[in-house]
Amino acid sequence: TDFKYIGNKLLGWYKTNARDLPFRQTKDPYKIWICEIVFQQTRISQGLNHYNNFIERFPDVKTLAEAEENEVLLYWKGLGYYSRAINVHKAAQQIINDYHGVFPSEYEEILKLKGVGKYTAAAVSSICFNGRIPAVDGNFYRVLSRVFANDFDISNSGAFNYFSELAHLILPDNAGDFNQAMMDLGSEICKPRNPLCGECPLNKDCIAFLTHKVSDFPVKTKK
Ligand code: ADE
Repeated sequence: TDFKYIGNKLLGWYKTNARDLPFRQTKDPYKIWICEIVFQQTRISQGLNHYNNFIERFPDVKTLAEAEENEVLLYWKGLGYYSRAINVHKAAQQIINDYHGVFPSEYEEILKLKGVGKYTAAAVSSICFNGRIPAVDGNFYRVLSRVFANDFDISNSGAFNYFSELAHLILPDNAGDFNQAMMDLGSEICKPRNPLCGECPLNKDCIAFLTHKVSDFPVKTKK
């Protein structure tokens, strides 16, 4: 069956409903990388000032690579998970040493950077280099499990691969906008609790909504 229309519907919604965020004005992989590292674990409202200050002080890979670790940590102060700061500093030096200071454009290369996992590599690849890779995270688990009323257990170690395949079924050509649309839908509409299904662009396609079972998804057996 062709489920691409679902991804395309989401893209249509994103065109007029995308949140206005500073890192959406750029395709600079350095800035997108930093924003993904910051905002995968920190709410936008809580981390936006840190992100802006960080980019102002370290506007590019070279400036970050040449900084002292202590100063990088100072700019991370308040965000928590400080290994993220140490990793972005090391990764910047990796880009200088291994890639002549040019941010790598291939998913497999981006994945080699210190502190970069599959989610971050997919986000940077799709947003900056047109890679057709879903940036699968908790938002994807929640939206996809509800749309397809799919009861695959998200605490199962196979969940990432399972929902990646499901995501590919609806992935449109513009994967960068699609990934960011999923992030916006997951945080503003298809929320863990009290989702705003009445405003959801997918409510005519969402099996969980149509069968009044939204609160049954995603299925999670272990903490
Ligand atoms: N959270 C992490 N990355 C994001 C992005 N690019 N847009 C919105 N929310 C995000």
